[in-house]
Amino acid sequence: MNILLIGSGGREHALAWAISASPLCDRLFVAPGNPGIAQIARNVDLKVTDHAAVIAFCRDENIGFVVVGPEAPLVAGLADDLATAGIKCFGPTKFPAQLEGSKGFTKDICAKYNIPTAAYGRFRDKAAALAYLDAHGAPIVIKADGLAAGKGVTVAMDMNTARAAVEDIFAAKFGSAECVIEEFLEGEEASFFVLTDGRNALPLATAQDHKRVGDGDSGPNTGGMGAYSPAPCMTPALCTEALETIVKPTIRALRDMEHPYVGVLFAGLILTKNGPKLIEYNCRFGDPEAQVLMMRLKDDLVTLLLACCDGALDKLSVRWLDDVALTVVMCAKGYPGDVMKGSEIRGLEGASAMEGVEIFHAGTTTKDGRIIANGGRVLNITARGATVREARDRAYAAVDRIDWPEGFCRRDIAWRALAREENR
Ligand code: AMP
Ligand code: GLY
Repeated sequence: MNILLIGSGGREHALAWAISASPLCDRLFVAPGNPGIAQIARNVDLKVTDHAAVIAFCRDENIGFVVVGPEAPLVAGLADDLATAGIKCFGPTKFPAQLEGSKGFTKDICAKYNIPTAAYGRFRDKAAALAYLDAHGAPIVIKADGLAAGKGVTVAMDMNTARAAVEDIFAAKFGSAECVIEEFLEGEEASFFVLTDGRNALPLATAQDHKRVGDGDSGPNTGGMGAYSPAPCMTPALCTEALETIVKPTIRALRDMEHPYVGVLFAGLILTKNGPKLIEYNCRFGDPEAQVLMMRLKDDLVTLLLACCDGALDKLSVRWLDDVALTVVMCAKGYPGDVMKGSEIRGLEGASAMEGVEIFHAGTTTKDGRIIANGGRVLNITARGATVREARDRAYAAVDRIDWPEGFCRRDIAWRALAREENR
């Protein structure tokens, strides 16, 4: 069948890489795609916010399956409109996509279904939000409701920071004058991915990412500076606990609301001393977690994604390579603040030819046949290895082959996993 993948980041390059290898895929189109994706699929210049245009393209190119990478089109109801047009789509419809689109929606489900998460208050009124802060004190966590590209969260260690965060939200800095204020939780974080057809849950592999921009997990939060899979802290027992106490009740909740969730449910967990707790849901694969999951996936991705849409997940299992996969995100200097676009990146061919290495593009473009930086997170240097150390050494050896003085990356991706491995 012909497949249309929506998106343009490193996650979509990794998904395109796996989809294009599927025996079920005849032609793969990616809208809008990026220069890395152009090497394995056909990029199409579609306005993804124009759902009628997407549907018209699917009819013209005989697309049998649409896979949505990022959250925004799902929150905007692309899956609903494709379903109405009779086109199969991987990714939840607008109502269940609120699990990512609205932190308040998720929190209310957690309360109703007794899903372990931080205690919280939900506010549309600034005075009430400030009063809640005063009543609970710091450390405390303030979140803008709605999509904010990972940047609408403040973990406030003192009251001044907390109050400033509330002021920012009600000054509509994040596009929504509504906030969730929640209890500060302590523990290691892990990303847990589950495919669901609305009824059955098929857990995928675990991963950990690095949200802070600087080495030693310092500096501001970002979309993700690197990731690895598996996450050694997610033992099989913790995976089962997260599945049973967090993910399955959520799937049941959406079914009870008669809006079953179809797609990948990405649970951001924090492993507290009282067990795993939900920090947030995303209604899509992680970026950069998808890059490492795809490097370890042994089975056919298209078969798995189609089974979600067909309500047939109970008939499937999924296998992973025992290898560790690790990705280092290379960013343009200045990220997560303002970045300079337009610098040239050299040496990608040599780097991607190294053993066990794949380079996924994110914010790149081309000019006269050269690769040019065109965003904040620009490249994902991804490697597989038998151990964390091997994967890490391979990824950084590839990073060092890349000639891009205007870029930077963290040098300590997987430090926790490496410490665990070497203390064994
Ligand atoms: P989110 O966008 O909700 O994933 O939050 C971004 C980051 O803020 C998370 O990855 C955590 O590191 C941190 N965070 C969010 N909620 C909490 C919480 N309740 N306690 C401690 N840290 C949190
Ligand atoms: N890496 C975290 C995310 O995709 O939201």
